[in-house]
Amino acid sequence: MGRTAGRTALHALLARLATELELNGNDLVIDREKAELLMEELKPKPSPLQLFYEQIKDCRKCPLAESRTNFVFGTGDENADIMFIGEAPGAEEDRLGEPFVGRAGQLLNRMLNEVGLRREEVYIANVLKCRPPGNRDPRPEEVAQCLPYLLKQIELIQPKVLVCLGRIAAQTLLKTLSPLSRLRGQIHHFQGIPMVVTYHPAALLRNMGNYERSISDLRFALRVYHEAAEREAGGEETGAEGA
Ligand code: URA
Repeated sequence: MGRTAGRTALHALLARLATELELNGNDLVIDREKAELLMEELKPKPSPLQLFYEQIKDCRKCPLAESRTNFVFGTGDENADIMFIGEAPGAEEDRLGEPFVGRAGQLLNRMLNEVGLRREEVYIANVLKCRPPGNRDPRPEEVAQCLPYLLKQIELIQPKVLVCLGRIAAQTLLKTLSPLSRLRGQIHHFQGIPMVVTYHPAALLRNMGNYERSISDLRFALRVYHEAAEREAGGEETGAEGA
């Protein structure tokens, strides 16, 4: 919940509390049942993304369910403006249930820090939620079963920019067979959301010669994001003037 939404909810609760309080002598008192109802209202409610996770976490739609240790849903800010999409969990991700926590993940964290982002303020997910044995490429039938989960995550998070980490994520979302070299350096669109493509951190670990290029790609994604945010703010202002 954003700070403004949180404050609004708190104000609403305080207003409710004020209406329920009664003066008893010099004391302000509240009926026990009403207090319990209010306490119930105060309990944090699961977000739509958490509810979605609960719905799908025991998925057995493809054989990867047999070999997985954990279903790796995604991590980060549910209201993130920037969403990173990788390929599939590796061994460490499968063990810990969180995307990009192995060596590639450490490199991703370093890349994020280098462009002024923190892992907690973006959202990170994969095309596949379960680890393909031996880290082989995802199979088309696995992608076909799993992709709807990622699409729903994108729909719920509504990021302002998507960053595909590597060929598989980019080719899957853009429905293309173009090589990574052709996909980098341009603004694509996925269901109206600007999308930028960069190297997969695991590929960078094999060839750090492309590291600076990947940092340029992330800076490019940030520019795309700032432009989108400015356009949106401009649109909102125009809307407000017209109202
Ligand atoms: N590679 C990926 O594509 N995703 C992860 O979560 C980890 C490694």
